Amino acid sequence: MRVITVCVGSACHLKGSHEIIGYFKDAIKDAGLDGKVELKGAFCMDQCTDGANLLIDEEVFHAGSVDDARKIFETEILHKLK
Ligand code: FES
Repeated sequence: MRVITVCVGSACHLKGSHEIIGYFKDAIKDAGLDGKVELKGAFCMDQCTDGANLLIDEEVFHAGSVDDARKIFETEILHKLK
C-alpha cells in the first residue's frame, strides 16, 4: 500500500491543496488503484513556503499546481506500481 498524504494546513490550502486532493482522488480511481493507494490529509508539515506539500509514503514533494501533482503521481505512483 502506497500512501499519499496532502497537507491541508492553511498555507497549503491557499496554494491549492484542496484541488490537489481532488485530483489525487480522481487519479487513484481512474487508474484502478483503490486499495493500493491510500489518500490522507495532514496538518502543517512545517514547510509552508514550499507548498502545497505532500508526502508519498515518507518522502516530501512540493506541488505548486494540480499539474505538478499530476507529474508526481505519474512518476512516483503509476510508474512504480507497474
Ligand atoms: S500549511 Fe502545509 S506545510 Fe504548513
